[in-house]
Amino acid sequence: MQKSRLDKFLISHLSLSKREVRLMLAQKRVHVDGQFALDIAAQINKFSLIEIDGNTLQKNDSIYIMLNKPIGVISATKDKSHKTVIDLISHPQKAMLHIVGRLDLNTSGLILLTNDSQWSEKLTQPKSKVAKVYHVTVQNKLTTDYIYAFEQGMYFDYEDITTKPAKLIILSDYTAQVSLTEGRYHQIKRMFGRFQNPVTKLHRSKVGNLSLDPILTVGDSRSLSSEEVANIALS
Ligand code: URA
Repeated sequence: MQKSRLDKFLISHLSLSKREVRLMLAQKRVHVDGQFALDIAAQINKFSLIEIDGNTLQKNDSIYIMLNKPIGVISATKDKSHKTVIDLISHPQKAMLHIVGRLDLNTSGLILLTNDSQWSEKLTQPKSKVAKVYHVTVQNKLTTDYIYAFEQGMYFDYEDITTKPAKLIILSDYTAQVSLTEGRYHQIKRMFGRFQNPVTKLHRSKVGNLSLDPILTVGDSRSLSSEEVANIALS
């Protein structure tokens, strides 16, 4: 998370000189997260609670939301022609949210939103290897060849990369569960495209250790518990 120095924050927010800020700290007038702040070089972030003489100067709560995204809603914060995932959320600070790993317009299921960029980076960075699980329906019959091809990885010349090993479990002739640890553009559709097998339905059910809450009907959302936030990327 981006950090900044407490003294710089106070200088700019209170239009004070460096000397005045030093004095304020020495007089124990500043609290950061409930503790006296005495060090001018103390580091703060956008979620630090900062109080002066008992009055709040900064209070930003971290927000973590899961949404059951419907088909036809766009994974964007603003759009001219489609309803966005933000439009479906009723949180009072929803304008501060960003999306953690987009889903295509015609993909449904678990999508996460937060204002905590450190958390979202941890989930989306390739090195963190957080698995995303999808239920896939295809047009043509599946065969066991798919399992090997997904496991081996596929070369995408546009990005000049080979996809990381993906786990495919055949559930029925036309349905499979696919688990990816990365999120390339239209990745699942492109991987089935190698078999000339169009994806007709795509639904994300899980990100890391977090499953889409079955209580959430399509279009509904809820806040994550602190355990869910902490455990999502634990392997
Ligand atoms: N792969 C896709 O092709 N689309 C998605 O929305 C997610 C993964």
